[in-house]
Amino acid sequence: MLEYFSKELEFFPVQKLIVVGLGQLGLPVAKYVKEHGFDTYGYDINQKAMQSAESKYGIKPATNFGDFDVLIICVSTHRPDDMFSPQVEGLMSVVEKISREAKTGALISIESTIPKGTSKRVFEKLDHRLHVVHAPHRWYALEEDIHGVNQLRIIGGVSRCCLQHGLNFYDGRLLDKEDKAVTMMPNASSSPSSSPSSSTMVDNSLSVATTLEAKSKTKTSSSITTKLNKKRSLGIPMHPVSSVEVAELTKIIENAHRYLQIAFAEELYLYCKSNGISFPELRESLNTKWNVEILEPRDGIGGHCLPKDTKMFINSSNTIKSKILQAAMEIDEDYRAYRAQLDEKKRLCSFNDKPIA
Ligand SMILES: NC(=O)c1ccc[n+]([C@@H]2O[C@H](COP(=O)([O-])OP(=O)(O)OC[C@H]3O[C@@H](n4cnc5c(N)ncnc54)[C@H](O)[C@@H]3O)[C@@H](O)[C@H]2O)c1
Repeated sequence: MLEYFSKELEFFPVQKLIVVGLGQLGLPVAKYVKEHGFDTYGYDINQKAMQSAESKYGIKPATNFGDFDVLIICVSTHRPDDMFSPQVEGLMSVVEKISREAKTGALISIESTIPKGTSKRVFEKLDHRLHVVHAPHRWYALEEDIHGVNQLRIIGGVSRCCLQHGLNFYDGRLLDKEDKAVTMMPNASSSPSSSPSSSTMVDNSLSVATTLEAKSKTKTSSSITTKLNKKRSLGIPMHPVSSVEVAELTKIIENAHRYLQIAFAEELYLYCKSNGISFPELRESLNTKWNVEILEPRDGIGGHCLPKDTKMFINSSNTIKSKILQAAMEIDEDYRAYRAQLDEKKRLCSFNDKPIA
């Protein structure tokens, strides 16, 4: 199987590429892509972000989306006035512009975190003219060296053809029939425009290549990338999944899982406070067991990823809604209220301690 994957395949040469959204995530993505030899452009509604990308890493500013082979979307997906609430209007406005300007057959990769169903909405908005994949990011600012741009990621396409293009771009491989996928031969048409019916049809029977490497328990990229076809790709190890919804859900559920772990730590902390137990000691004691890892609750669950993504997951179903996550959100509110009370007490104490002038 690996021999098949390592063959040079000619059908999707990528030259010109644009990263849309040059914030915390988009900037390192653009830098990485440029370092891998692609002609890299950037676009952001914030002029400062564009200027910073240009001055720091030589990312060329673009105002029009025509003429790009790949468009990587890294725009924010939360409400501008409330980072805990999901919102994809900004992303959809970018897609409208892409729909008007981008060339037929280009690849759009959505790396932003998005609610289930968004990738197919994007594909519809583009009139099925472009290939759409979702390759959600796991970038972590505090450990960029090990959890940066090049780490094992999930990829799903709105159709088999889209996934072929995306996988080929990221790690240089293609799906193969040994893995029960319908094989896309290198000389077969891969352009949505040349074969609209094949590109618009989402093949749910696809069973994708779950490679030996992607199954690796270590989840480190180094051993994997050596086997990938770096010459025509970004050299990022990808784990392809059979539907784009699985890719969308994987990202938001992995963050919901993290949310749950922190909420449990918050609850234990509150339990300890009301029962006269030392939380640090209890935590240390619990973590001596091989399969237990109690986190620190710190300042509560913040940032623009965990709360927003957890809400995306809760809202992803009209029928069964996660009860455990709704309870976790209540616990986080209680914990924050407790912390706010403590802070207020400290503030008053320090105010009372001040010498009278
Ligand atoms: N930062 C992380 O650690 C991280 C990790 C994984 C996933 N993500 C996801 O990546 C996405 C981006 O996150 P971020 O941290 O980079 O956010 P950010 O706020 O730092 O950057 C987003 C950028 O997108 C730009 N933007 C917003 N709307 C736009 C539009 N309509 N057109 C062009 N540009 C637009 C903003 O000006 C900003 O520069 C989010 O979906 C987030 O959940 C972030």
